[in-house]
Amino acid sequence: MVVHILWGDVLFRIAIDGPAGSGKSTIASRLADRLNIDYVDSGSIYRAITRAIIDNRINYKNIAELTSFIQNLNIEFDSSSISVNGVDFSAKIRVASVNSLVSEVAAISVVRKKVNNILGLIAEKQNVIMDGRDIGTVIIPDAELKIFLNASVEERARRRFFELNNGEDLSYEDVLANIIHRDNIDSSREDSPLTKAADAIEIDTTKLTIDDIIRQIMERISSKNYAL
Ligand code: DC
Repeated sequence: MVVHILWGDVLFRIAIDGPAGSGKSTIASRLADRLNIDYVDSGSIYRAITRAIIDNRINYKNIAELTSFIQNLNIEFDSSSISVNGVDFSAKIRVASVNSLVSEVAAISVVRKKVNNILGLIAEKQNVIMDGRDIGTVIIPDAELKIFLNASVEERARRRFFELNNGEDLSYEDVLANIIHRDNIDSSREDSPLTKAADAIEIDTTKLTIDDIIRQIMERISSKNYAL
């Protein structure tokens, strides 16, 4: 199905939320290509900040130290790369050390504030597909389309396990434990926890192919009369 979006003066922003491994980034980037809209992976910004904290041995539990550190971080990204203070971080944000720490860092309000400022500036002025945990609830509460992707925890761990094949010696059980750990922190933190927006469409991707999911979302877009 080919869908032509009528842009005009109307913003068209798609918020995709869900837990780790639910398929957000795969779906979001495919949709972005298909619709010719920018894609922003908000998790990659939390990951880049976490990596910078690790590399610089910042005591992130000391809020004064953390605040002054992140104030001086200049984060730039496009759909396929991310840099911090001019250094390309793309290849070093999806590794075990970042996976283990990122949820704790992302639960800290000064960190969320920094990321929210970056995301808010994008969402207020342009068409975008953004994925994360709080896009439909906090970052773009008035998004034109909200999707909440989910899948069983075992299936999410299986996907991540196969994705991770990067020389790190991790078993499926390690990956499953990390996903359960991150689910708990992401869903129970006080500041903007992972929750489905009341008006989001929930899709359980456990048994669906990527094409099935894209098809379902494209049908939603068509039914909203954004299509010619
Ligand atoms: O989507 P991801 O697994 O790359 O995200 C990494 C972490 O960042 C995730 O454990 C929670 C956090 N995150 C968040 O708190 N809010 C977002 N909008 C995106 C990610």
